[in-house]
Amino acid sequence: MTPCLETPRLRLRSPGFGDARRLTEFLDNFAVSGNLAKVPHPYTIEDARTWLSAWRADAPPRETRFVVELRDEGAIGMVGFRDCDGEAMVGYWLGEPHWGQGLMTEALCAALDWYFAVTDADVVVSGVFHFNMASAALQMKFGFVETGRSMSHCLARGQELEHIDTELTREAYELSRPKPKRIAAQ
Ligand SMILES: CC(C)(COP(=O)(O)OP(=O)(O)OC[C@H]1O[C@@H](n2cnc3c(N)ncnc32)[C@H](O)[C@@H]1OP(=O)(O)O)[C@@H](O)C(=O)NCCC(=O)NCCS
Repeated sequence: MTPCLETPRLRLRSPGFGDARRLTEFLDNFAVSGNLAKVPHPYTIEDARTWLSAWRADAPPRETRFVVELRDEGAIGMVGFRDCDGEAMVGYWLGEPHWGQGLMTEALCAALDWYFAVTDADVVVSGVFHFNMASAALQMKFGFVETGRSMSHCLARGQELEHIDTELTREAYELSRPKPKRIAAQ
């Protein structure tokens, strides 16, 4: 079952159909979807419902998705793990009005704390399109390192793009973990 993770400003919790409208509002923005692999542009409420209906309460940790909720405001983004050849691949996004306030640092920290605590995994993989400086900077803060380059399809752009493949080891995370602390978990 997806836990609820509390941070100073955020709650990370299970996705629900009630999130469809807010997720659509933020994802129907090329500035967001153009940095993601599997999000179409334009993005409709039906796309959100399809994504939400794929969520399973009994998903294993490496397939767990969290909606990121800003206290007193509601859903503003997502952090999720998906299985990638037996390893967890982490992906994330925030609605554009909420960028640049350290919120994803806070959310990703909570999700990675949780993932490394409930699994014995030694690594989490991720990556960024070659032009995504904000996400690359974010990952670097956590101790992710480049493991190679690949071509990856971006649905919103309808293009194959150069992708920087990255990974974060448990050891690197313990050394580099950014400051904000998760204050409670249920
Ligand atoms: C990537 C994203 C999640 C970052 O969220 P955020 O809450 O703004 O991130 P944070 O503020 O916690 O941290 C971002 C870091 O990148 C830095 N940064 C932002 N823009 C940058 C840029 N153009 N070049 C270099 N660094 C940049 C910030 O200064 C910050 O580092 P700091 O804390 O050392 O100052 C958000 O921009 C987003 O949702 N983008 C669209 C979707 C996306 O790219 N998802 C990831 C796909 S791999």
